[in-house]
Amino acid sequence: MNINKYKIIRLDEKYIKNIELIWLNSLPENLKSMIGGVIVKNYLIEFLSDKSNLGIGVLHANELAGFVLFGTDDNIIKKIFIKDFFVIIKSFLKSLLFFDLKKIKNFIDCAIYLFLSKKKENILKIKDTQLLIICVNIKFQNKGLGSFMIKESFKNYDFFFKKYNNVFVKTLKKDAKNISFYKKNDFKYLFEIFGRVYLKY
Ligand SMILES: CC(C)(COP(=O)(O)OP(=O)(O)OC[C@H]1O[C@@H](n2cnc3c(N)ncnc32)[C@H](O)[C@@H]1OP(=O)(O)O)[C@@H](O)C(=O)NCCC(=O)NCCS
Repeated sequence: MNINKYKIIRLDEKYIKNIELIWLNSLPENLKSMIGGVIVKNYLIEFLSDKSNLGIGVLHANELAGFVLFGTDDNIIKKIFIKDFFVIIKSFLKSLLFFDLKKIKNFIDCAIYLFLSKKKENILKIKDTQLLIICVNIKFQNKGLGSFMIKESFKNYDFFFKKYNNVFVKTLKKDAKNISFYKKNDFKYLFEIFGRVYLKY
């Protein structure tokens, strides 16, 4: 990978549309993607307006090639749940009506997981921050960009990371490629909850 072609930036509101597109294309089975772009967009608006969070992007000739979000999103999720309650309910009812098994399963899975993980996650969140999501535009994947973003974030944004002991991340256990990606980037296995693997840097 020729790193001179890429530029690391701190993300702000003007990148929301580009982040949303990469998110929806790279993570189509993510529940927020399944509910729709409006949820992803509102999540990003809330995330980026809170300056205690850190969003990092990588540019290739002025095109956003990938992004990574660090911080906490408990309050964002609560706000979105209230603000977009009818969008979420409508999406759930639609999945029932059209017998969209994949989506129904995703809704139920997320609800059970949130219930089961709350206590253990709250303990982690006292001293640690979280890598909430990382996505590389499909056409740029597997060229080292994801690893580059993680390394450059830790190297250049010490003012953010020094407030925490560790950075944790969770990923679906069935996504073996993601687990090996995090391990390759020095995240160590912690524990599992309901099909999610937690790793810590
Ligand atoms: C996970 C992701 C960010 C990795 O970024 P990347 O730039 O492709 O990763 P890198 O090139 O730095 O590292 C590649 C390594 O990651 C792993 N990997 C993860 N996802 C991969 C994918 N879709 N294609 C190829 N390798 C992938 C491989 O183990 C690979 O290891 P190798 O080089 O030893 O073969 C990227 O694949 C992606 O955006 N995936 C979709 C979104 C996602 O699942 N995000 C994580 C959950 S929030």
